[in-house]
This record gives sequence, C-alpha cells and structure tokens, in this order.
Amino acid sequence: MQIVIVGAGGLVGKEFTRHFSIEHQVVALKHDDLNIADREAVRQTIINQRPALIINCAVLGVDDCELEPSRAWNVNVMGAENLAEAASDIDAELLHLSTNYVFDGNLEADSFYTIEDFPAPINIYGQTKLAAERAVKSICKRSFIIRTSWVFGVGKKSFLSTAHHSLNAASRIRAITDIWASSTYVRDLAERVDEILLHQHYSTYHVVNSGICSYYDFALEAARVLKISDKEITHLIEPVKVSEIQFVAQRPRYTPMRCIVSDRIGLAPMRDWRLSIVDYIRGQFSW
Ligand SMILES: NC(=O)c1ccc[n+]([C@@H]2O[C@H](COP(=O)([O-])OP(=O)(O)OC[C@H]3O[C@@H](n4cnc5c(N)ncnc54)[C@H](OP(=O)(O)O)[C@@H]3O)[C@@H](O)[C@H]2O)c1
Repeated sequence: MQIVIVGAGGLVGKEFTRHFSIEHQVVALKHDDLNIADREAVRQTIINQRPALIINCAVLGVDDCELEPSRAWNVNVMGAENLAEAASDIDAELLHLSTNYVFDGNLEADSFYTIEDFPAPINIYGQTKLAAERAVKSICKRSFIIRTSWVFGVGKKSFLSTAHHSLNAASRIRAITDIWASSTYVRDLAERVDEILLHQHYSTYHVVNSGICSYYDFALEAARVLKISDKEITHLIEPVKVSEIQFVAQRPRYTPMRCIVSDRIGLAPMRDWRLSIVDYIRGQFSW
C-alpha cells in the first residue's frame, strides 16, 4: 500500500517511517517537505501521491502551543483539517495522532481514562488536539484517531527518551513524583497501529503500554535496567514536585488510559511499560 506520512522528522514520524517502510511504499514528508497548515500544498501533494493511507505525525508541541496559540491552531487543527479534506477527496484513510492531554487529569487514583470519558483539556495543546480530533472525524469518515501518551524512543530530547543516558553518564536528574500517566514505547506504538489498521474499524483508540507511572517511577525503572545501585540511585535521581518545575504549559495531573475499542476488536492489552523500557535501553547499549 502507498502511505504518506507527514511530520516524518519527529519521534513518532521517524519510527512510523521505519516500521511501515518494511511492507509498504512510504512517502515520508518532513516539515521542510510539506507544511500541513498550507491547504493548497497539502491538496496538491495528496492528489499527486494518491496514497491509500495518510498518517499525521506533525504537531506543534505542548509548550510551543502556549507560547504561540495562533500557530498552534494553524498547525494542530487547520493542518489536520487540510489532511482530512485531502484524504476524503481521494477516499483515502487518515490516521491522526492525538494525546492523553485531551483530559483534565482529575481522575481518581488507580483508574484509567477511556473514550467514554469526557475530554476537558487544560492547556492550548490539549484544546487544539481535541478540536483536531473532532474535525478529522467529521470530515473524513475513514479515519482512525490514535491517542497516545508519554512516548519515548530514539531521537527525541525529552526526559523519558534521555533519562537513561544521563543516568548512565552519572549525571544527576530531577524527576517529578506527582504527575502520572501511561507511557508508550514508540516501537510498540507503531506495531499496535499496524494491527489496528488491519481491522479497518474507524474509531478513537488509546494506544499506550499497560500500567501507570510518574516521571520518577520511569527514571527509577531506567536506573534498575542499567543496574545502578540503590545508593547511587538516591544520589542520581532527585525527586521533585511538579510545582518546583517551571513549565510553560500546565500539565494534567493524572491521565493513564485504557483502550476499550482494542478490547472490542480482540487486541490484547499492550505489554507493561517496564518491559518496554528494558527493550528500549538494551537496544541503545547493544547488550
Ligand atoms: N511525544 C509524546 O510524548 C506524545 C504524547 C502524546 C501524543 N503525541 C502525539 O504524537 C504525534 C507525534 O508527536 P511527536 O512526539 O513525534 O512530535 P515531534 O517529535 O515534536 O515531531 C513533530 C514533527 O512535526 C513537524 N511539524 C511541526 N509543524 C509542522 C507543520 N506545520 N507541517 C509539517 N510538519 C510540522 C515538526 O517539524 P519541525 O520540528 O521541523 O517543526 C516535527 O518533525 C503528535 O500528534 C502528538 O500530539 C506525542
């Protein structure tokens, strides 16, 4: 199948390009190749390529959205609309990535958000991502919305993707103890999306590894995989409260997710986040 991936230079876009290129013809478009906010450019590109599937991995990130709200709406909402229109025009499928940040994070401990929970984003990023979901669903009937959360993998300078490098180099890190979510290894995300596509059941999915963690739990687990002693861990990982960190955008406090649609179509829950970290770190250090 012919697949166009937009936002192909980012964390998810790069992994999807690698993964789907194994069995499909993939046209991977980075930001410089296609600005999704440019409606005419999107239309022309999609008409020229005539893909069976478009995957939207392009996004303006959480803090940038708060700093540049109008750009956030242009990229995250109008960009998604442009892709949905183009997909609909040629009767292609559209797979659109979304986020746990559509929820406000005020859930009770040990529970999980499902698609039956009411989204109520608390920052501009979440608001744009929710607006995009709604636009995509109304414009493109053959669309999949994939909400994922705290994605980690090679090539991103985020806490989750790099904590193990700092720990391995004996650099001290600060890790937040009082924000919790599902985390997602980008390779597991690509594999599950592949399975979802095969079912052609157009819906909203929560695609995350099983379990719940805080940033602190995640760092502890990475340290354990690296066989760092408890004494060193105490020295290397400083637990902090979110109130001590100056984020530009507010983060929802508690957003673990579970996928009832995957359950319905017979897909087993994804593996536990701790197993994914082992794979991720081992892959990096080639043990
Ligand atoms: N990473 C996570 O933890 C996470 C969690 C939940 C959901 N998601 C969702 O997963 C998807 C992919 O996220 P990601 O982590 O891979 O993001 P990322 O690493 O920040 O990559 C996003 C890519 O989009 C590109 N881009 C920005 N504006 C664009 C535009 N106008 N036209 C075309 N491309 C544009 C960026 O290029 P430049 O950098 O050159 O501008 C970048 O390469 C997003 O929908 C995001 O909401 C991610």
